[in-house]
Amino acid sequence: MKSENGERRIYLDNNATTRCDPRVVEAMLPFFTEKYGNSASRNHGFGWEAEEAVEKARTQVAAVIGADAKEIVFTSGATEADNLALKGVAEMYREKGDHIISVPTEHKAIIDTAKHLESLGLKVTWLPVDKEGLIDLDELRRSITEKTILISVMAVNNEVGVIQPLAEIGKIAAEKGVLFHTDAVQAVGKIPIDVNAMGIHLLSMSGHKIYGPKGIGALYVRRRNPRVRVSIQMHGGGHERGYRSGTLAVPLIVGFGKACELAAEDLSSGEIERVRKLRDRLLDGIRARVPESYVNGSLTRRAPNNLNISFAYVEGESLLMGINDIAVSSGSEDLAHTSIRFGLGRFTTEEEVDYTIERLSGIVSRLRELSPLWEMAQEGIDITKVNWQGH
Ligand SMILES: Cc1ncc(COP(=O)(O)O)c(C=O)c1O
Repeated sequence: MKSENGERRIYLDNNATTRCDPRVVEAMLPFFTEKYGNSASRNHGFGWEAEEAVEKARTQVAAVIGADAKEIVFTSGATEADNLALKGVAEMYREKGDHIISVPTEHKAIIDTAKHLESLGLKVTWLPVDKEGLIDLDELRRSITEKTILISVMAVNNEVGVIQPLAEIGKIAAEKGVLFHTDAVQAVGKIPIDVNAMGIHLLSMSGHKIYGPKGIGALYVRRRNPRVRVSIQMHGGGHERGYRSGTLAVPLIVGFGKACELAAEDLSSGEIERVRKLRDRLLDGIRARVPESYVNGSLTRRAPNNLNISFAYVEGESLLMGINDIAVSSGSEDLAHTSIRFGLGRFTTEEEVDYTIERLSGIVSRLRELSPLWEMAQEGIDITKVNWQGH
């Protein structure tokens, strides 16, 4: 894709956010200009058509996770959905217990919310993950106590794309009578999600990670077997069955609904397989052309759109500068190692993948030619054992 000034720009940061699909934009537009009613206005057609559109979207959102429309609470995004799930459960089930189980590799929306609850006196167990990024189910089982009210484990990790064993967690949660929340922001449209088959009680989603608009998301709250309740975090006019007050963002909700419909199609139409093939092409290309590159996280239990690779003996800033026409996300590990997250998506082409392999391999070799560390490594010197001070 070309930028406004005609320069080449490749977007491989689809785990951070995605381009709004033109079909989503088209669905939204009338709700800014002609159908601008308040969905809570009961006395006229403007209100009714807005409400009808919101309810259609609610059905579309519910369908992509196998839920009922009545179980969807619209929020401003997944951060708010995560907050509502954790704080809402902690408050609502305070009498039952004060213990939550989560994972240190969660998104900050979960980590910081759980830490806040910790500061209020709740106990949080942080389950470790193995080198593949996965939790240990026996350890999860052992961590559950009489006081445990909630397990919150993300479906797909935003950095390395690792898929946690959701159905198994759901089974343990059911056995022990504990609620199971999952942040499924990176999972929707990438892997099949079914709240019933997986025993999920609460689930967070976001519009802008699935080619929908920014600023809209939802919390799924199970209504049957068992009926789950969360205490209100946003008081006001009683919208969303009282769970989340505030005039509904009708255009965003319509766009989010359309995005969910398209996300479900991606799974059945072969689109996500196309993305997986491109991801594998990128991986094969990098492996063939760049020695000392290592995949972070499980390759087998991984969302098809994500690749996260560490490049040894290259410094992060220089690498990113060298590929500045390709948008990726980087986590510098130390001076000598850089990890890059490649998030592929619906608009990624084979040509872009090939260009990325070419650019990346070129830059990494050039940087390594300039690197004394690389030279030392080639000579068989273990750089971790070098005494840099010289005494
Ligand atoms: C796993 C995960 N959870 C939550 C969020 C936050 O979502 P939102 O931007 O809709 O608040 C993100 C996005 O950064 C994410 O990747």
